[in-house]
Amino acid sequence: MKIFDPIKIGTMELKNRIVVAPMTVDYANPDETPSDRHLAYYSERAKGGAGLITLEVVTVDGDHRYQQNSLGLYNDSLIAPHKKLVDAIHAHGAKVQPQLSHTGPESLGGFFKGIQPVGPSVVRTATTLQVCRELGADEIPRLVSMYGDAAVRARAAGYDGIELHAAHSYMLLGSFLSPLRNHRTDEYKGSKLEGRIKLLLEVLADIRSKVGKDFPITLRISGYERESGSREINDTVRMAPLLVAAGVNAFHVSGGVGDLNITQIIPASDYPVGYNVAMAAAIKQVVDVPVLVVGRIMNIEDAEKVLQSNQADMVVMGRAFFADPHLMNKAKAGQFDAIRPCIVCQDCVDTIMPGGGSACAVNANSGREQQLPMKELAAKSKSVVVIGGGMAGMEAARVCAERGHKVTLLEKHKQLGGNFILAAQLLDDLQPYLDWMKREMNRLPINVKLGAEADEKIISALKPDAIIVAAGAKLAEPAFAGSELAHVISGGKLHKLIAEDFKGLSGDIVVLGGGVIAVEIADAIGKKGNNVTMINWDNRVAEGAGRKRRGDLSRRLDKSGVKVLTGMPIVAITKDQVQFKNVDGTVRSVKATAVLVADLPQANTELVERFKNLAPEIKSVGDCAGFGLVKKAIKDATLAAHSL
Ligand SMILES: Cc1cc2nc3c(=O)[nH]c(=O)nc-3n(C[C@H](O)[C@H](O)[C@H](O)COP(=O)(O)O)c2cc1C
Ligand code: SF4
Repeated sequence: MKIFDPIKIGTMELKNRIVVAPMTVDYANPDETPSDRHLAYYSERAKGGAGLITLEVVTVDGDHRYQQNSLGLYNDSLIAPHKKLVDAIHAHGAKVQPQLSHTGPESLGGFFKGIQPVGPSVVRTATTLQVCRELGADEIPRLVSMYGDAAVRARAAGYDGIELHAAHSYMLLGSFLSPLRNHRTDEYKGSKLEGRIKLLLEVLADIRSKVGKDFPITLRISGYERESGSREINDTVRMAPLLVAAGVNAFHVSGGVGDLNITQIIPASDYPVGYNVAMAAAIKQVVDVPVLVVGRIMNIEDAEKVLQSNQADMVVMGRAFFADPHLMNKAKAGQFDAIRPCIVCQDCVDTIMPGGGSACAVNANSGREQQLPMKELAAKSKSVVVIGGGMAGMEAARVCAERGHKVTLLEKHKQLGGNFILAAQLLDDLQPYLDWMKREMNRLPINVKLGAEADEKIISALKPDAIIVAAGAKLAEPAFAGSELAHVISGGKLHKLIAEDFKGLSGDIVVLGGGVIAVEIADAIGKKGNNVTMINWDNRVAEGAGRKRRGDLSRRLDKSGVKVLTGMPIVAITKDQVQFKNVDGTVRSVKATAVLVADLPQANTELVERFKNLAPEIKSVGDCAGFGLVKKAIKDATLAAHSL
């Protein structure tokens, strides 16, 4: 496979062509040094066979941090802690480079030091809501020199090169590059190529003058910013040769601009695979240095296709490495089926803002490598019975088996997957994860019993040391006036309808509810061309999802033509209408040939109560312990399995 062909970025020799993308995980110490958690997280990716790891944003200016717990390399005292991280990664044979950046308009300097962010012009940043001030031309040389100084420190810390961050029309270099943010009229003016590239060329010159020509520099740049008023589609190819002459050893092609939901930078399910590839291919036409491409290339097969088509020399993958740090080793061993796929749910982004650092919905060990080691045998092998073969039950069985327990999984239906089978029908990105989980049940020594409804007799015969109940939620009956009417579909009937891909459903469909499940249902029916209205009594759409995911889901509802009404209590369902209370107190109605009621799962403690005396330990995970999405199911299950 071409992904395993060695390649060089400048003097840096790489064992494969897949790079771990820069991802700010928010694990750093308060003084912006790498934490032990960082060391464990990155070491796991190095151990897993990554050729090159690009660290997250590392600020070059101590006045301007990026996130609450992000990294810095702005004075010499930071070299030693970075060296510890570099050594930990090198110990596993991977190369590593920091992503050097002045945070510019994105800086949190205002919050941490009372220092206003700086940029090419006065702009307001959507993510921080801060307004930056325009840099005077006389202030620029000091900032330029910070880049060179940080590169010198990076080399002293043992990094194999640096990535210079100039993508996404944000931070300092990205903002100067983009006419959207650079409204200057001096020699740095954004309206002219020579003006917008000037700061970047000065930074490259400063770095090269301080580290010489042999220290590899990869430049991350948006191939196309894709916003009206931004750099035009041909801009990057006009710049690229100038940048190579200034010392760039490789281009890392991303796309888009930084908006509140980082929409184009971290794309959702509705973005095509490899949406930046054409831009990378265009840049390859004009330079002879390696061109790397990133963006929704979620598996090795797609990465290989990009390389085979010669549209890029290397592929950069972000979320795929968060979901499975060992994907390169598995690929090397030909175990493609063993790679845990990312489901593009955006929890890794949405978990950053509330604090506590980034977490992965499908891999609770990611970023928790110290507390929850990926491979660790339990002190004592126990007999464990898992009740329920949905995602929580399978994950509990999987982790218990990995930890050396003797596991029996009881599933009352004839197939594994529970309600996730339906979810995967609504959203394509879920199916590979379901398939992977089922394969894990075969790979591991788990005694899977299908069509086996748990009862006292079966469980007692297994003499369990522990029982994990993962039997799913109870579905409440809808309590609206008229919900007994034949065209009101909920619970098991709704499940059947989804399983049959909404066969026979057409006309004016009203979906009641506004959580993620309701949104996915409304989107799926809307895409089929129905007239869909979603009515939610709560104020928000996709309550329970984080801000980024809510943004992604709202965009999909908009695209599929779903009419969204929120904060509208349901008054009654009639034979051809749904009546709701408007914000002004009046009762209004929408036409409905069918009414689908989503979102009524409730915790179910029945089985725990019933079986609690059959084993010394009993735990409840997934929806039966309180409704949640994949992330809750997987986290519950992983924690329960690690506690045994
Ligand atoms: C949690 C998270 C943090 C990220 N932080 C950064 C960052 O610090 N710098 C950057 O340039 N891109 C950052 N990105 C964007 C990724 O580098 C990458 O471009 C994006 O995830 C698309 O690649 P993927 O589809 O392979 O995940 C981040 C992405 C994620 C998911
Ligand atoms: S949190 Fe979701 S999007 Fe992020 S890596 Fe994990 S599965 Fe993928």
